[in-house]
Amino acid sequence: MAILVCGGAGYIGSHMVDYLVKNGEQVVVIDNLCTGYRQAVPEGVKFYEADVRDGVALDKIFSQNEIEAVIHFAAFSLVGESMEKPLAYFNNNVYGMQVLLEQMVAHKIDKIVFSSSAAVYGEPKRVPIEEDDETLPQNPYGETKLAMEKMMKWVNKKYGIRYVSLRYFNVAGASLDGHIGESHFPESHLVPIILQVPLGQREALTIYGNDYPTADGTCIRDYVHVVDLAAAHLKALSYLRAGNKSDIFNLGSGNGYSVRQMIDAAEKATGLKIKTVVGERRPGDPARLVAASDKASRVLGWQPQYEDMEKIIATAWQWHKKHPHGFRK
Ligand code: UFG
Repeated sequence: MAILVCGGAGYIGSHMVDYLVKNGEQVVVIDNLCTGYRQAVPEGVKFYEADVRDGVALDKIFSQNEIEAVIHFAAFSLVGESMEKPLAYFNNNVYGMQVLLEQMVAHKIDKIVFSSSAAVYGEPKRVPIEEDDETLPQNPYGETKLAMEKMMKWVNKKYGIRYVSLRYFNVAGASLDGHIGESHFPESHLVPIILQVPLGQREALTIYGNDYPTADGTCIRDYVHVVDLAAAHLKALSYLRAGNKSDIFNLGSGNGYSVRQMIDAAEKATGLKIKTVVGERRPGDPARLVAASDKASRVLGWQPQYEDMEKIIATAWQWHKKHPHGFRK
């Protein structure tokens, strides 16, 4: 029996595939390569270049392979872009989930692990954020992830497909052997953007605001290493395999790092000085986002292994140094 990884050629999806293979699981990947890269998926893994909205393609994949469970990453994931193209986000993310679930029902696949986001909470009323806290997305991206969770809830009720939804906060780092890593175009995430400075691709990092109500005035986020994140998905799958009920978990380290602390850690990891300039606040950025992750620890037995930020950034640096243009030729 194999695990179908939807979006397995993307940043988090490809680290998931790598982790599953290393843990002896059989894996099948579907990805439309709109933001993912074929090279990110190991040669020995069965790969379908197809879209999750394509029911005919999914029907074929489920018929040709013995699929036990699905891990679903295939979605658009940029907050700013989602404000510009809300319908594209609903179409790809929400309709994509609908087609996937329709095919899972048709083929009697009863387990799914879903890549959700801290964006479902919106501006938090308290920090650390707990899973039962109010969900009030502030952008179409977060709204689509919440709609996808709700779709799974009702499909579970009717058809018995159990799910685990994992709400990630900030993800960073690359595989420890440096063969896969983050490759987004254009890049909008803090760690790869910081590293563009020592790579000589950017003059200076623009800090989006230094007048937030935090110790050093810059925004605080909760960063988890991408391999730790992959480990959490396999724990979630084991939880479903053991017959447990559907549930939702935050994935974070419980530690917040400010933008300035991230820059300090990057300077240590690279051994190079990173030039910065202070710019305007980015609209929609909450001052502090930190996850309460004790539920994932208590119920799934998940604990991040990479807590030292310098080490997390060092894995990203190793990848970016060897692949300064990501997977692009
Ligand atoms: N930042 C800068 N300069 C940059 C880029 C980012 O100062 O050039 C700051 C941001 O203002 C923010 C922090 O670095 O304070 C992290 O920014 P990212 O864009 O890396 O990440 P976000 O916290 O904005 O977004 C993350 C995920 C999203 C998810 C969101 C949930 O990347 O997918 O958390 O709130 F939707």
